[in-house]
Amino acid sequence: MTKDMEDWKAALRDLGVTSLIRPENFHTPPQMSPSKNKKVAATPSIAYQPPTDSVRNPPTEIIQTLSDLPGLLEAIRGCQRCILGTTRNQFVFGEGNPHADMMFVGEGPGRDEDLHGRPFVGRAGDLLEKMIEAIGLKRSEVYIANIVKCRPPDNRIPTPEEARSCLGYLQKQIEIIQPKVIVTLGATPLRELLGITEGITKVRGTLRFFHEIPVIPTFHPAYVLRMYTPEVRKAVWDDLKLAKTKIEANV
Ligand code: URA
Repeated sequence: MTKDMEDWKAALRDLGVTSLIRPENFHTPPQMSPSKNKKVAATPSIAYQPPTDSVRNPPTEIIQTLSDLPGLLEAIRGCQRCILGTTRNQFVFGEGNPHADMMFVGEGPGRDEDLHGRPFVGRAGDLLEKMIEAIGLKRSEVYIANIVKCRPPDNRIPTPEEARSCLGYLQKQIEIIQPKVIVTLGATPLRELLGITEGITKVRGTLRFFHEIPVIPTFHPAYVLRMYTPEVRKAVWDDLKLAKTKIEANV
């Protein structure tokens, strides 16, 4: 340590400063607390060990053999493949017309859905229903499901591992229903179903495919509720009209 530095430290000590920030830590940004609307996936401190029995960890080979929705539900309703299965109140399988032309895929159950065992029953669900009706369909005519079937605590975004544990179930639902078009709601289904990590604002309204099925990404109704502007509403309206043309083109 140079004489100047020693003098400087002594002067600081006189001022009551007894410890110094090490230079290598000096530029470390402070820890930010998550913003109010941002849902951050928590990293469990202990890695979750999935059970090994077929009720709580339904074997993929069995799922693959199934060909109807009630049979699939029966096979997977006790699932605890990921930690969400241990914290949920209800398993939210999905609901709607098993022969629907249009299928909606959201992120995961929230508080209301977890309590009722049905997808999109809260405020976002009310808006989704209005969106469906705006294009001349009824909720009972479409099928609604989510990337994960159990509520992530605090409505956080499901982790990629949780989404992966559950994805085979959604894929099976899509295979059974064979919709003519899928509408994904928000960034999570876009990422987990299609592997698209670009922002939803950029991707919405563009035509994508899941296997051969046309997919139209649009905003999540919860986002529309937060950003209830004419622009956002028009964007969703345009996306749903586009989705409807995919049904009409494939009669
Ligand atoms: N948000 C979702 O993504 N899914 C639901 O079922 C409810 C809210």
